[in-house]
Amino acid sequence: MPERPYVIDKMISAKTIAARIEELAREIEAEYKDTDKLVVVGLLRGSFVFIADLVREIDLPVEVDFLEASSYGDGMESSREVRILKDIRGQIEGRDVLLVEDIVDTGFTLEHVVHLLKSRHPRKLRTIALLDKPSRREAPIKGDWIGFEIPDEFVVGYGIDFAQRNRNLPFIGKVRFT
Ligand code: PRP
Repeated sequence: MPERPYVIDKMISAKTIAARIEELAREIEAEYKDTDKLVVVGLLRGSFVFIADLVREIDLPVEVDFLEASSYGDGMESSREVRILKDIRGQIEGRDVLLVEDIVDTGFTLEHVVHLLKSRHPRKLRTIALLDKPSRREAPIKGDWIGFEIPDEFVVGYGIDFAQRNRNLPFIGKVRFT
């Protein structure tokens, strides 16, 4: 992709994200209070920061696993073809699973991965996404828990990249081309 200069405007601060994660963790604890060991599956790469903060807030026994899916490559538009680049390591049949996504845009990634994990017969599968862009949805799916609904802006930070940059920002920012 050609280099286009851009600046990043802060959209959601680290403090606001942390406060929302505390609220979400309390709801997740209530939902899974009778589970022996919850399997929390992070969708790489974008969810790596969110899952790290989320599992540390959840006061329940958890097992952490990862799955890597990709549909964007380095571009800004979804290819609509979701590729599984790395599968989870553990067995989820009969288990309680929480799938963690950074952002739901068209919804194709979440739909594809939910379909895949359901085919393995977990006891209960729920999904959480830090960010949701409902105006962009094409696949008929919604996260069970959502951190923040956002407008159709190109966002980066807190795990989310633009051409593999800016994942390490501690806040969510929006890209503005200059
Ligand atoms: C991004 C993001 C979500 C997905 C959302 O992943 O992390 O997983 O796109 O888009 P969708 O709802 O339109 O499917 P990407 O393919 O860029 O991979 P990455 O997580 O490794 O950055």
